[in-house]
Amino acid sequence: NKVVLAYSGGLDTSVILKWLQDKYDSEVVTFTADLGQGEEVEPARAKAKSLGIKEIFIEDLREEFARDYVFPMFRANAIYEGEYLLGTSIARPLIAKRLVEIARETGAEAVSHGATGKGNDQVRFELGAYALNPNIKVIAPWREWDLLSRQKLLDYAETHGIPVEMKQGKKSPYSMDANLLHISYEGGILEDPWAEPEESMWRWSVSPEDAPDTATYLELTYENGDIVAINGERMSPATVMTYLNKVAGENGIGRLDIVENRYVGMKSRGCYETPAGTVMLKAHRAIESLTLDREVAHLKDELMPRYAQMIYNGYWWAPERVMMQAMIDESQKTVNGEVRLKLYKGNVIVVGRESKTDSLFDESIATFEDDAGAYDQKDAEGFIKLNALRLKIAGNKKR
Ligand code: ARG
Ligand code: SIN
Repeated sequence: NKVVLAYSGGLDTSVILKWLQDKYDSEVVTFTADLGQGEEVEPARAKAKSLGIKEIFIEDLREEFARDYVFPMFRANAIYEGEYLLGTSIARPLIAKRLVEIARETGAEAVSHGATGKGNDQVRFELGAYALNPNIKVIAPWREWDLLSRQKLLDYAETHGIPVEMKQGKKSPYSMDANLLHISYEGGILEDPWAEPEESMWRWSVSPEDAPDTATYLELTYENGDIVAINGERMSPATVMTYLNKVAGENGIGRLDIVENRYVGMKSRGCYETPAGTVMLKAHRAIESLTLDREVAHLKDELMPRYAQMIYNGYWWAPERVMMQAMIDESQKTVNGEVRLKLYKGNVIVVGRESKTDSLFDESIATFEDDAGAYDQKDAEGFIKLNALRLKIAGNKKR
């Protein structure tokens, strides 16, 4: 009776660890991942050890996360309900995959996580796990136990010998989740949608008011829809994101405050900081504006909300997402070139775009000057007349 637990090393998952040992008499295997949350993961090893864990997995997944999850998603310009850049949603499928793989490696029949029964995360973890191993068992303690307040968790920790260092530490008043793409804040005063969060909540960005008075210029190089270099220097996907988070955060870029619809049916208020992602979305649209055929671009835009919804709802490993990804990736073969941006006080401003190999922009056709016969304006007359035909027929009926 072995179970692989997604373990952060914090109070909640430490209580879960103990609870799995006590309630199910489980042998617990812990899995802790560095996804770029900006916190050390190594301390989780000593904590797991002190709770009697023998098999401890601690992994740096930053490159895999950026390369195989975030970058593919940004090829689609994915955005949920017009605002949310899916920072938490896109990390869950990778965690689900590693939980299932580690279960296979260690001979565990179950996986466990610390997501509550009211949220999206439980759905994402579990749909992912079942898609990748239909026989896997899932244990979701938050849906089973009655430790529903922080005090009850602390009392449980107290009576079950969970070391003090896990019980202490300044607990943030928010439910947070962080990785290379974003940091999220929910709960606390944010449960009142009218209440503005205090400035000190934000961790990765300065407020636009405090951002520098001079703009920062950036040049991004794209290959097949992915950023491969910044200011001419080639970088790995995770390095690109780390770099952009820093410069965009310094310029007050990427703050978001929304009410969103969770898959389980409720509305929820969340605040997000997504500095790199905000730059990446804007820049990707700019390079696509030059290199994608109009109908391809418009079709992508029509399908994008469906793709975003699949990721939000936890269907990354589902056949419909895989199908759409193949289509999106096909469209990116021509998305090559450079975008020049200006970051200034919370704004990402595109100031230039260029593609030596794939630009569909033809200056000799588009010009307001003499185009030397490249485009015959007389052709537009017939074009308009035929398109107006049905409008004229309908217009005649009305009178
Ligand atoms: N509401 C966001 C989402 O559903 C963020 C969830 C944050 N998760 C967390 N465990 N704090 O993607
Ligand atoms: C949780 O309930 O664990 C966090 C919120 C969410 O998953 O939407």
